[in-house]
Amino acid sequence: MILEPLRFYLITDLHYFENSLGAEGEAYEARSLTDQKCIAETGAIIDSAFAQLAADTQVNNILIAGDMTFNGEAESHRAMIKKLDALQAAGKRIYMITGNHDGDHEAYAFSGANRIDVEGTAREELPNLYYEYGWKDAIAVESRRRCYVAQLGDGVRLLGIYHNLDDDNSGFEDIMDWILAQVADAQRCGDLIFGMAHVPILPGAPVLTRVGDATIQGGKGIARRLADAGLALMFTGHMHMQSINKLATKRGKFLFDICTGSLVGGPCAIRNISIDENRVMRLTTGTVADFDWDRRGMTAEEYFVWRFDRKIGHEILSKIKNKQLACFLGKGKLFRFVVERVRNIFYGKELDSRAAIDLRTGAVTQLPT
Ligand SMILES: [Fe+2]
Repeated sequence: MILEPLRFYLITDLHYFENSLGAEGEAYEARSLTDQKCIAETGAIIDSAFAQLAADTQVNNILIAGDMTFNGEAESHRAMIKKLDALQAAGKRIYMITGNHDGDHEAYAFSGANRIDVEGTAREELPNLYYEYGWKDAIAVESRRRCYVAQLGDGVRLLGIYHNLDDDNSGFEDIMDWILAQVADAQRCGDLIFGMAHVPILPGAPVLTRVGDATIQGGKGIARRLADAGLALMFTGHMHMQSINKLATKRGKFLFDICTGSLVGGPCAIRNISIDENRVMRLTTGTVADFDWDRRGMTAEEYFVWRFDRKIGHEILSKIKNKQLACFLGKGKLFRFVVERVRNIFYGKELDSRAAIDLRTGAVTQLPT
């Protein structure tokens, strides 16, 4: 089928937390300190982002790459789905997958100095909960992991890959035959097919090859097989970072893994993507510039940077047993340098946020600001 030019937004890692469960006190503050993403603020951020998406009448498709809730709280899922319903009622077609934070977690909230247990969500329930947003319009469904293929428009299909039921990032081995059959079917019909999976296949930065859950297991091998089969593009989330990585195979094929920052933490990213009839994809990145929260005088961007730096700083300094020494080091230039280096990796280069990618040749160019 001839590709009709397509436009869509892509967001990920919304991590909505329903504050009525309990989102304040000592235990909350301690947990918040260890997180780059927001928790209690998520409702305000998502509402602001969804208002922005609803206001753009030129772009009606929205893709979400998983982690809808903080840790799978049933109340958070219920409220998140209401937000999706409202966005759909505003005229948007939403296609989502779930992530590792959406089910089978020990769900909890906060009360004073304690964490309290709250109702969680079994992973098997998720396809039914989010049936409206991907599975309903699927032209093919994989029954065990409930992956799906949706026809986004004339000549272009989305392969939504559900996060592994076992929650161990163990790759796509159990569904590889189904995926390859879907890629072959799209090619038979002359359609472009691209994927969306929660956990990256390729590491977002070289240093992340040492981080256990930064990619699915055997990611490079999987990327090679997908590329050789003709799948050239995969959108991912999970790492809360902006990156575009390409793997080229000996057969002259390639696969791009485009990872997007969490909507509710720095780098807060809303990707605006178009694919034209020549299979050239153009991708720019916006953000949530404002949300209804007491940010203590900071802009939204400053607030996200502050949270990011606080988390990284806490992670580094909490490893130093001598608290006086930690306090001294925390004020030093070297400490600031390290925190900024880490932040720069996750926020990505300009090319990671503004790029044109020719999906026929694999050529990448940076778009002007
Ligand atoms: Fe996440």
